Amino acid sequence: MSEDKTYQVTMEEHEFIYPRYEFVAQANVSDPDIFERMSLDKFPYYYKEFADMLEWDEYWHTMLDTSDAPCWKWFVGGRLNASYNCVDRHLKENKNKTAIHYVPEPEGEAIEHITYQNLYMRVNEVAAVLRDEMGLKKGDRVTLHLPMTPELPITMLACARLGIIHSQVFGGFSGKAAGERAWDSESEILITMDAYYRSGKLLDHFEKAEEACKRSEEEGQKIKTVLVWQRYKGKHSSPTPLKEGRDLVMNDLIEKHKRVKVDPVSMPAEDILFLMYTSGTTGRPKGIQHSTGGYLAYVTAMTYIIQDVQPTDVYWCMADIGWITGHSFIVYGPLSLGASTVVYEGTPTYPDPGRCWRIAEELDVNIYHTSPTAIRMLRKAGYDEPDNYNHKFKLMCTVGEPIEPEVWKWYYEKVGKNQAAIVDTYWQTENGGFLCSSVPGIEPMKPGSAGKTVPGLHAVVYDDTGREMEPGEGKAGNICMRNPWPGSMQTIWKDRDRYVRTYYERYCKDPKSKDWRDWPYMTGDAAVLAADGYFRILGRIDDIINVAGHRLGTKEVESAALVVEEVAEAAVVAAKDEIKGAVPDLYVSLKPGFEPSTELEKKINATIRDVVGPIATPKGVWIVPDMPKTRSGKIMRRVLACVSNNTDTGDVTTLANPEVVELIEEMVKKGK
Ligand code: PRX
Repeated sequence: MSEDKTYQVTMEEHEFIYPRYEFVAQANVSDPDIFERMSLDKFPYYYKEFADMLEWDEYWHTMLDTSDAPCWKWFVGGRLNASYNCVDRHLKENKNKTAIHYVPEPEGEAIEHITYQNLYMRVNEVAAVLRDEMGLKKGDRVTLHLPMTPELPITMLACARLGIIHSQVFGGFSGKAAGERAWDSESEILITMDAYYRSGKLLDHFEKAEEACKRSEEEGQKIKTVLVWQRYKGKHSSPTPLKEGRDLVMNDLIEKHKRVKVDPVSMPAEDILFLMYTSGTTGRPKGIQHSTGGYLAYVTAMTYIIQDVQPTDVYWCMADIGWITGHSFIVYGPLSLGASTVVYEGTPTYPDPGRCWRIAEELDVNIYHTSPTAIRMLRKAGYDEPDNYNHKFKLMCTVGEPIEPEVWKWYYEKVGKNQAAIVDTYWQTENGGFLCSSVPGIEPMKPGSAGKTVPGLHAVVYDDTGREMEPGEGKAGNICMRNPWPGSMQTIWKDRDRYVRTYYERYCKDPKSKDWRDWPYMTGDAAVLAADGYFRILGRIDDIINVAGHRLGTKEVESAALVVEEVAEAAVVAAKDEIKGAVPDLYVSLKPGFEPSTELEKKINATIRDVVGPIATPKGVWIVPDMPKTRSGKIMRRVLACVSNNTDTGDVTTLANPEVVELIEEMVKKGK
């Protein structure tokens, strides 16, 4: 067994590994002709192939409308319903097929196999509650703060059935974070759950609802009703009592709407399907706005082309539906294709490192999708554990962060038993679906590389002067997309300026232009383009830390620290972490009259967990006498990052207070 160390994404290119013949022979896409069909000179017409994977109530007349560039409109004139496409359309031939295999965390609880017929009934009943009890209608926003149980996809699909815009906040986020997002999206209704299992504990999730309502109301958005799903039907499993007049039990309401059918609302392709909040470079998360037609067409096509999902497959994406990966590749993509998708409630290593492989064996999962953080965790917890199980994957996916070649190798050899093809998919919340990945039946894999752009997309790497870099230059640049695509966000909710500024301003060739060629999309990631056209993604070029494959804005954590009254200044940097890739490390200075203490460190730590959520828990809270600053008073985060990662801080003599660097270095080295 190899020794664990702090992993690095190496600069060296690895050898190609070719998928096995058995995989290629059965692949959805194995003809390289797809790249020819989707060459840039044929843009945007090839996206008809994607649109035709859906059922339209009314076929679209305009593929791409650029009149409001860079807010692209796709499949204009078309009408469809996402819930119909993910549920109803499969009834005719597949009503008895499992749509969702729900695996509760406690192994004593039975796995639930929800058929398409059952999903249809349940989605309709929830839609009836939302429409007839709550009076919700097309265009209204609803905030969901749900854990990984079937009620989450069912509620999403019920919203989609009515054209209600769902905004699901990751269940692990705090009540305050949910409240802030409810306020921004102007939701009057919050849908939550009483409790759920995580690492063997039944967590009180409902307690977060009170905080969410309080936070939202402070900002001027009153949440009128909280709908509460029960983890165990007929029982309130949270010690926090329901509030009269505000909270209603969803399971009770459903009893009144048993077997009620709700007609799917025919939505213009350009109407909003959902909002998904993600961290940006300011303290305020941004509501990424996804369309109905373009988004659904894109995720359906990506699930088919890259995930190779076929009617007989059982597909398990281990992400949380609270993140974009779960939206696209647990819910909308697989269900739109009529596949069987797995929803697992709990921790991958609970109660032991064999849990995932037992689930895979029991359900005969053959497509598996997870993040490098989970792979590192599973590798560390049970290096040889996959040997003990008879699961057999044809395809495995990795997403969310760069994967170290040696971790990739373990995934390939141990988890995939040297048989499964691997796709390393690179993309973002904003993109709806993949940007880069190899097409598994056509292109070889390269450990540590995400591959070329997916069919239909065409990337360019710019250096800092705006020059297009050549393949094989060996240096990193900013990876951008030359052309728009149907899955791309429409805008940032209520903030078009921020949308243009963040993603387009830097490389826009003419801000007045209505021609898509003038508006390359800037991902915000650094990448190296190899001579063979494969992209190696190095990480963010902005103030965003990728923690366990999830985006965390340093400003978000800093603002949370500044809530503590003793704190004068806060600076967050990324510290390398063996499992999570990176974690935030926090430096604070205090207002005059306050003294550092362990209690204060704990208070700051607890405040951050409370304001943002446990994902933001800093590795350390370093109360420093002063921040290293430039002469103009700017905090030198670069220097602090070197200290956190024990690397050379370089020449600091030009700082206003160079002496403080040594003091901080000593403090961090001593761990005090
Ligand atoms: O830095 C890139 C990294 O994750 C960021 C997007 O985060 P988020 O919007 O939370 O979506 C994560 C899942 C889609 C990107 O800007 N990233 C994502 N996938 C990869 C990656 N870095 C390297 N390799 C990947 N495959």
